[in-house]
Amino acid sequence: MKTSPETDSDLVIGLEAKYFNDETIYQRVEQNIFYKTWQFACHASQLRNPGDYFTLTLFDQEIVVLRDKENSLRALYNVCQHRGHKLVEGSGNKKLLVCPYHRWCYDLDGQLRAAPNSTSVAGFDSSSICLTGLRIEEFLGFVFINLDKDCNSMDASYPGVKTAILELCADIEQRAFAYEHTADEGCNWLTAVENYNECYHCKACHAEFARGIIDPGSYNIQPFGEGKVLRHSSKATQSDSAWYDVSGSDYGSFFLWPSSAIQIYPGGVVNSYYWRPLAVDDVRVHRGWYSNDGSVDEALQKVIDFDRDTTFSEDLKLVKNVQRGLQSRGYRPGPLIVDPRGGIDNENSIRTLHHWLREAVDQ
Ligand code: FES
Ligand SMILES: [Fe+2]
Repeated sequence: MKTSPETDSDLVIGLEAKYFNDETIYQRVEQNIFYKTWQFACHASQLRNPGDYFTLTLFDQEIVVLRDKENSLRALYNVCQHRGHKLVEGSGNKKLLVCPYHRWCYDLDGQLRAAPNSTSVAGFDSSSICLTGLRIEEFLGFVFINLDKDCNSMDASYPGVKTAILELCADIEQRAFAYEHTADEGCNWLTAVENYNECYHCKACHAEFARGIIDPGSYNIQPFGEGKVLRHSSKATQSDSAWYDVSGSDYGSFFLWPSSAIQIYPGGVVNSYYWRPLAVDDVRVHRGWYSNDGSVDEALQKVIDFDRDTTFSEDLKLVKNVQRGLQSRGYRPGPLIVDPRGGIDNENSIRTLHHWLREAVDQ
């Protein structure tokens, strides 16, 4: 089977179904991909003040991201060092992290400050007990974490992306989190990520998106730069049925392998996707929207509603349907439509995703 993205002319066959429904491969995805790459955590505007925190779950790892007393962003495993209870839930603001089980109490930098009755224990040294940290970075206002302490920085992992996004939206760092909705997609994470990263289905399944946001004739998705990045680009729609005033800038999206995308809709409407696998056959998609002051005005609400009621919900049905098909005893993967000229009717990006996946999980 051809999986290399270097050859343009030969037939490229899609992935066997096992890559989407086999538990052993799913475990390799967890260990070899998700625990070694940058994962979207939240937006920096959600951690504005010292003590603001936000929790997340990545596979079976509980994590808390917060702003500490020195105003630095920090990511910690959300687990008490006493006997392993989870420390904090949800999001909010705290001066100290207090474990609900036996009330061990940690500073915002993770250092143990106090433990009830610990003074009665000879040799108990609270200064030697600290929550375990992980890598965290702010990237154009978005907060990412990485469980691999030796990982490359975001810039080194996704070179050129910052500059390219700033060319599309120079004031992106001024944006604040405004709204998010989520859905459990009932499919493997890769089924969802593949669907996001090709627009071969757009004319058949997303009439509103093709008419209201982009100019389908100019749409293209290609690997970008030296990192594992796919860039979606298009001129803004020329049609009278634009969702809003799309003048000012073109459409661009940057998919950062394996699970995040920062999108600029025409006219500088910043939005995001990220996916969190829940099981081999389920993934939660998070759809985020941003504005200058964190509010959702009437114009932005209209875009959010249009998107959720058309493209977003249409995709939910597609990926669920595909996941069911991948269980079929009759499914034999077909050739991908790899058109060397680029364009919307193309699955070159799928070939690239398959290459990145197999590089990490084939043994
Ligand atoms: S497990 Fe946290 S205080 Fe005991
Ligand atoms: Fe779609």
